[in-house]
Amino acid sequence: MTKLGVLASGRGSNFQAIINAINAGTLKASLELLIVDNPSAYAVERAKKHGIPHLYMNPKDFGTQDGFFAGIADGLKSRGVELVVLAGFMRIVRKPLLDAFPMRVMNIHPALLPSFPGLHGQRQAVDYGVRISGCTVHFVDEGMDTGPVIIQAAVPVMPDDTEESLSERILGLEHKIFPEAIRLFSEGRLEVSGRKVRIINASKAVHGVIVNPPLS
Ligand code: GRF
Repeated sequence: MTKLGVLASGRGSNFQAIINAINAGTLKASLELLIVDNPSAYAVERAKKHGIPHLYMNPKDFGTQDGFFAGIADGLKSRGVELVVLAGFMRIVRKPLLDAFPMRVMNIHPALLPSFPGLHGQRQAVDYGVRISGCTVHFVDEGMDTGPVIIQAAVPVMPDDTEESLSERILGLEHKIFPEAIRLFSEGRLEVSGRKVRIINASKAVHGVIVNPPLS
C-alpha cells in the first residue's frame, strides 16, 4: 500500500478523484498528508471531510523557495510518504523536494505535453487552434512540465470550444488518468529510463494512451 502525500493550491478535484479511487478500492494507497500553500484552498475541505491530515505551509515562513520545499520534504518524510502527488499545485517544484523524492513526484497537466506547458494549457490549445488536446501525467523534474510522461489522454477540440468547455472535457479525463498513474506506480509497474517511462505488463494498445470520446 503506497503512502501518498498531496500538494495542492486550490479546488482539489483531482485530489477528490484520488480519494474516490481509494474509497472504491481501485487504488490501493493511503493518503497520509495534504499540504496546501493557500489557506483558503478548497482541497482542505475535502481533506477534512475524509479525515485526511492536512497542513497549510506559508512560503513566507521560509526564507527562500528552496527552504520552503525543504520544509515540505521534511513534513512528507515525517509521515512516511513514498509518492508525492501534485494536484493543482501552482508552483515550480525545487530541488530539495525532488532530491528527497527522486522520480517520486507526479504532476497532472491539462494539455498534451510538450505542447502548451505552464499556465492555462487549455486556453493555449483553444487559441492555437489545435484539433486534439488532452492531459498528461508525468514525473516532475526541475523544469516546468518537462519530466518523463507516464500517461496521456486525448480529447477533440470542437470548433465552438471555449477555455471553459475544453477544460471541462479534459478534466473528466484527468480524474481517470491521475488515479490510474498512481495505481501503476503503487503496483511497481513504472520503469523510468532517461525520458522514457515503461509501463510493465501493459499491452501495446494501452501503453499509457487513452482517447476519449472516440472520434467517430
Ligand atoms: C487541473 O486542471 C490540473 O491539470 C492542473 O491544475 C488543475 C487543478 O484542478 N495542474 P483541481 O484543483 O485538481 O480541481
